[in-house]
Formats: sequence, C-alpha cells, structure tokens
Amino acid sequence: MIAEKIQIVAYLFASILFIYSLGGLSSQESAKRGVIYGIVGMLIAVLATVLGPNIKGGYIFIISAISVASVIGVILARKVEMTSMPQLVAILHSFVGLAAVLVGIGSYIEVGEIDHSDPEAGVKHIIHLVEVYLGVFIGAITFTGSIIAWGKLEGKISSKPLLYPGRHMVNLILVVVCIVLGVLFTMDDGSLGMVYLMIMTAIACFIGVMLVMAIGGADMPVVVSMLNSYSGWAASAAGFMLGNDLLIVTGALVGSSGAILSIIMCEAMNRSFFSVIFGGFGAAPAGVAKEIEGEVTALNHEEVATLLKEAKSVVIVPGYGMAVAKAQYPIYSMVQTLRSAGKKVRFAIHPVAGRLPGHMNVLLAEANVPYDIVLEMDEINDDMPDTDVVMVIGANDVVNPGAQDDPSSPIFGMPVIEAWKAEHVIVMKRSMSVGYAGVENPLFYKSNTDMLYGDAKDSVDKILTFLKDK
Ligand code: TAP
Repeated sequence: MIAEKIQIVAYLFASILFIYSLGGLSSQESAKRGVIYGIVGMLIAVLATVLGPNIKGGYIFIISAISVASVIGVILARKVEMTSMPQLVAILHSFVGLAAVLVGIGSYIEVGEIDHSDPEAGVKHIIHLVEVYLGVFIGAITFTGSIIAWGKLEGKISSKPLLYPGRHMVNLILVVVCIVLGVLFTMDDGSLGMVYLMIMTAIACFIGVMLVMAIGGADMPVVVSMLNSYSGWAASAAGFMLGNDLLIVTGALVGSSGAILSIIMCEAMNRSFFSVIFGGFGAAPAGVAKEIEGEVTALNHEEVATLLKEAKSVVIVPGYGMAVAKAQYPIYSMVQTLRSAGKKVRFAIHPVAGRLPGHMNVLLAEANVPYDIVLEMDEINDDMPDTDVVMVIGANDVVNPGAQDDPSSPIFGMPVIEAWKAEHVIVMKRSMSVGYAGVENPLFYKSNTDMLYGDAKDSVDKILTFLKDK
C-alpha cells in the first residue's frame, strides 16, 4: 500500500518535471534546463516503475535490458552528427511504435478468462480489447511510417513523393477494413481474435509506409513532428493497456506537443495540416514546370570580400550546408569583422532551414552569435529591398523564388526568404545541385545573383582573410 502511494507521488513528480521540460525546450536560453528536467523526470519514472509494487521479480532481465539499451543509446548519441539528428529521432519514434505493438500483443495474450463474478467484467474486457486494438493500430503506423521517414532523411529512399492515382481511396478502404476487423476483434470469443489483430497490424504497417512515401522532401519536417505526435499517442495507448498512469500522461504530453508543433510548422510552410497527415493530399504539383531564364555567373573569394567591404547592410541566410560544413564559427568571425567596420549585419532564419526545427538557431547560439541579430523570416523579409548584399550560405530550398511564382513547383506556396529582392546575392555552395526538396532554384540564374562555389567553411575562411587585408 505504502509502495503504491510512493509510486503515485513519484509519477506525479515525474509528470511535473516533464511539463517543465517541455516549457524549457520552448526557447534557446532555457533549453538546457529543459533537458535536465527531462533527464531527472525519466530517471524518477524508471526507478519508480522498476522498484514499484507491480514488478515482482525478473530484475535480472530488466537490469540487463536497461544496461544494454543504455550503452547502445550513449554510443549512438555520442556518434551522431548534428545533421543526422532528425534520422535518429525518426528511428527512435519507430521503436516507440514497435513497443506499442508488442505491448498490445503481449497484453492481449495475457487477457485470460473473464471473471463472471464481477458484473462489470464484460465491459472492462471490451474496453481493454479496444485499448489493445487502438494501441497496436497507432503503434504499427508509427513503426513503419518512422522507418520510411528515416530512409527518406538518410537519403536511402527518394525524397520525391510516391503518388499513385486513387491512393486516398485505397487508404480509406484499408481504414474501413481495420474498423470492421476491430468490431470483430472486440466481439470475438477468443478463437479468432489474434488473427484479426495480426491482419490489422499488417494493414496498419502498410498504411504507415504509404502515408509517408506520399510525402515530398520539403514536407518532411512536418512528417517528423507528426510521427513524434503519433509515437506519443502510441505510448499513451500502451499506458492504458498496462494500467500505467505515468505512461498515459507522458504519451499525451508528447502526442499533444508533437501535434501543436506540426500545426505551427504547417502554418510556417503554408501547408494544410490535413493534407500532410493524410499523406500529401493535394500535394501533386499542377502544370508544366516553369522554364528557368538567365545565366549562372560566379565570383571568387576576393571579389566577394570586395563586395562586402562596399556594402552597408548585409543579410546572411544560413541553411543545411552551413551545418554540414560546420561554418557557423568562421561565419561569426566574419560578422564581427564586418560589424566592427560599421556595417549592419543580420541573419535571416527560415523556420525549416536545415534538417530539424530550430537547427540554425542552435548552431548560431553554439557559435555565440547574439540573439538580437538573428531574425526570423517574417521579421526580415520586408528589409530585403534595402539590403546591399545577401549571403546565402549552404541554403537552397528556403530561398527558392519558385515557391512564389511557379505553381508547378512541389514547394509552391511555401513562404521563403526573398533574397532575390536585395541588390546583390551571393550563393555559397559546392555545386549547382538541388536542395532537399529536389527542385531547381531559379535564384541562381538571376542577374543580381553570383555563385561562390566551395565548402561553406573553407569559403568563409578565405573571404575573412581578404576582409582582414587592408
Ligand atoms: P537544402 O535545400 O537542403 O540545401 C542545402 C544546400 O547546402 C544544398 O543545395 C547543398 O548544395 C549545400 N551544401 C551541402 N553541403 C555543403 C557544404 N559543405 N558547403 C556548402 N554548401 C553545402 O537546405 P535548406 O535551404 O536549409 O532547406 C531545408 C530543406 O530541408 C527544406 O526543403 C526543408 O523542408 C527540408 N527539411 C527540413 C527539416 C527541418 S525541421 N528543418 C527537416 C527535414 C527536411 P551543394 O551540394 O551544391 O553544396
């Protein structure tokens, strides 16, 4: 009895820490504190569960599993590059989905005989079966959807959306079949229940694959946060099956915060929330691709340094390439040099620049760039016509004018940083290759744009040398 009460208090305390953790993660300044709250909360949660009254033995298995998993977790987390974080997150979501499927199947096997002396036993039994069925359904979609998301982010699967005619009808029919199987499952006398559950699991796995396959590269940020949300609901469902209140609360926190993040990202990218969760509904680009006009011209490092010396106002648009090149440190040195020469220098951050939410902000904060010169896209777009030089460093999709004027483009409608409105644009990247969304960028062909080819860090280092040359 006392052990139960201590466990409830520990769960409550852990839940509060998780809420503080989420609050902390909402801004860069408090993010570290948020992570620490999360770690402490999780530690309390694991200890309270393992040492709690529901676990009666089997400690050797639990400790071995936790030890092996912790070692693997530490090795993976230490090894993973910042640029590969989204893939890690996606694969971790798949584990949550798989866990929910296994917990559901295990919990169904364990159901046992209905206690006929309890007048509510029949209702309780049906509620439990619904929990199992829903948990396995959400878990299976999360499991395969996250694996496909991992493949797309890792470049193992093409980022182009797999769109085939009638796919929404196929998905709808499959969902209806799952609902019918669910009704049969809850009414089953125990003979065919496992068969229904297995067929539904296979269908849900297929739905997960098809939903994410239908989503194009540029919409992947929303998919990752959607899968984050699904993994939360899957964990919550597992909590219901296991009768674990903390898992229910934690799952609901992850599920709802993931859903809120998805809505925010959809708004930032001007995408309909439902079009993304239903697997690229209406995502097919319309019409023939617009022909790109103009010629590509390039400058060398010295010429770029001269342009910067002459400029009064400079805006830097960083993207994924800055993260790959780890160019944030020399970029900040360059910014300091320009600012000490009396120039107005600011950063323009697109909400989905890089590969994870807040990617650029984290990298710039790491290099100690002051927050007041790091502006969001909406805060700086109006200033572009008054800017002398825009330096696009390792960014591509987020400065693509096709998003505004080419209805055939897969990223049409996505708000972008209007770099082309500045007097001069320098695009720093290694080649003419496309960005994550796989679309050509007409910005590179504009008359006020010049390319500076090469690795971003190397290029900035060289520009800095010329800038310091009096
Ligand atoms: P991208 O459009 O992916 O373009 C990055 C560019 O960086 C590439 O064109 C590449 O060109 C260049 N690059 C790579 N390595 C470089 C290096 N070492 N030095 C210099 N340049 C280098 O990046 P973006 O503009 O940041 O846009 C992000 C894209 O990712 C969007 O489509 C977004 O939807 C998607 N996405 C975002 C997220 C989140 S949450 N942020 C998650 C998943 C997907 P070269 O190969 O020619 O150098």
